[in-house]
Amino acid sequence: MVEEDYTIVIEDVYKAYVTSSVVTWALLGVNLRVRRGDFISVMGPSGSGKTTLLNLVGLIDRPTKGKIYIDGVDTSVLGDRELAEFRNRKIGFVFQTFNLISRLNILENIELPLIARGIPREERWRRALEALLKVGGDESWIYKRPNQLSGGQQQRVAIARAIVGSPSILLADEPTGNLDTASARVVVKTFVELNKLGQTIVLITHNPEVAHCSQEIHVLRDGQIVNTLKSDSSRCLIYSK
Ligand SMILES: Nc1ncnc2c1ncn2[C@@H]1O[C@H](COP(=O)(O)OP(=O)(O)OP(=O)(O)O)[C@@H](O)[C@H]1O
Ligand SMILES: [Mg+2]
Repeated sequence: MVEEDYTIVIEDVYKAYVTSSVVTWALLGVNLRVRRGDFISVMGPSGSGKTTLLNLVGLIDRPTKGKIYIDGVDTSVLGDRELAEFRNRKIGFVFQTFNLISRLNILENIELPLIARGIPREERWRRALEALLKVGGDESWIYKRPNQLSGGQQQRVAIARAIVGSPSILLADEPTGNLDTASARVVVKTFVELNKLGQTIVLITHNPEVAHCSQEIHVLRDGQIVNTLKSDSSRCLIYSK
């Protein structure tokens, strides 16, 4: 049995990508445990396996070998439909490129994950607005289209969409990669504040100043975690000049 207080347990996980002629081992025996309420970051050079790891934790893909437990559930035993339903409830995802839908307004973008759950419209709108305010967004945004907002504002909307269903885990793949420093600061502050409210967060970044805003930094190299260090909040982007 896996201890209940771990939201994520990654147990000896390997991942191979197989194309017609080549096999690429992207992960080679990763072990990692994340407690409920933790905020961790993953750093490492390009190609070290960060996105691969996040996609496995986010249940978008399955390991070649090894196990991933989310909230104590062994996800390897779930069939594809069960896994999709489990993912919708447990995981919120944020990407570098925001991935908002340009023809929908802000409120419609945020409520999307709730539609798949069959939640009535009024309730969806109420929760979408609540999520928007939680990420520091403004009510005046709700009827705007994504392209009428700045990059930092769009990323906060994407975070609102990721948390609207109250997921166990918020995953972010290079969420400040497309932002200038001022916008990155606002977005990172949003993650820190959500974490203070109890949100478990796993964030990938190339930027040490972003990583140091989390509690613990795991360094990936060639598909393995080669170093784990405590963050130094004095090096966090929010507090630097
Ligand atoms: N769909 C795929 N098919 C084949 N190989 C892949 C696939 N996705 C990733 N890889 C390979 O797996 C390895 C790890 O890739 P991954 O995208 O996880 O790295 P990363 O650390 O996220 O890099 P970056 O910092 O550039 O985003 C790389 O060698 C990559 O080329
Ligand atoms: Mg990547």
